[in-house]
Amino acid sequence: MPNTGSRPHAVIVTGGASGIGLATIERLLASGWRVAAFDRDQTAIAKLRNMHGDKVRADVLDVTDEQAVEATVKSVATAFGRLDGVVNSAGIGIDIHVLDTSVSQFRNVLDINVTGTFIVGRAAARIMKDQGAGAIVNIASIAGLRGFKGRAAYGASKGAVAILTQVMAVDLARYGIRVNAVAPGPIDTPLVQAMHPAAVRRAVLHYTPMRRYAAPDEVATAILFLLDSTQSSFITGAILPVDGGFIGAGLMELETDSPEKA
Ligand SMILES: NC(=O)c1ccc[n+]([C@@H]2O[C@H](COP(=O)([O-])OP(=O)(O)OC[C@H]3O[C@@H](n4cnc5c(N)ncnc54)[C@H](O)[C@@H]3O)[C@@H](O)[C@H]2O)c1
Repeated sequence: MPNTGSRPHAVIVTGGASGIGLATIERLLASGWRVAAFDRDQTAIAKLRNMHGDKVRADVLDVTDEQAVEATVKSVATAFGRLDGVVNSAGIGIDIHVLDTSVSQFRNVLDINVTGTFIVGRAAARIMKDQGAGAIVNIASIAGLRGFKGRAAYGASKGAVAILTQVMAVDLARYGIRVNAVAPGPIDTPLVQAMHPAAVRRAVLHYTPMRRYAAPDEVATAILFLLDSTQSSFITGAILPVDGGFIGAGLMELETDSPEKA
């Protein structure tokens, strides 16, 4: 268990009521962290409270609401006595051809995925600066590192999250704050179930060497590694693919090819 003197580490997870955020909370709890979870989905937050009782401080929060985020992050740090980590998992996705993407759709995706990540990360970093330590983990995407069909807004937002991560890592290193991101490939979550109809799933599997979708917990373990300064003390500005080999892949066998034919 990570320790700060006698107190276990304290962490904020946004988008914590579903998918990767929820899996991360479960991993963090199992590893002895104190967790505050936020999500804009009121029903899902109520479910989270039912699941974990007072083991998690769970509340409704929209990451694009600057004033609410500033106040919430401060109050969590006060209640926990410190703030060691932040996981920015709140996000939305759309799959719309660039010619059909409206400006308001584009702005909305960037507002939540990029501006929200910035607002939460900056609020946390101001507190971590005074402590002289902290770790921020953002969620980028393989769709922010390569051109995916229909991802004009989503891909642009995740590319921005990757570079935001690197800039924050540079600006905050002097305060002992590490900033990293995971870039998940296909992960079976409600977001992906909505965005990946059967034809997309087939295409994703075709380009993913490990030929499967991952469980959210497989991303959560990578997030924990980047959060935990006992494990990743010299890692900052990294964009870690958790993608079954997608980003590293070049020429691949066709699914029907046997190794002998290659
Ligand atoms: N699932 C994947 O394959 C995959 C791949 C790459 C990246 N990601 C990223 O991982 C992150 C988590 O996605 P997921 O797949 O777990 O999706 P999810 O839909 O299961 O969870 C996302 C959560 O974020 C919350 N949220 C959305 N907008 C918010 C806002 N403005 N304020 C607060 N909460 C908000 C939602 O209510 C939801 O509970 C996202 O940033 C997503 O883009 C997911």
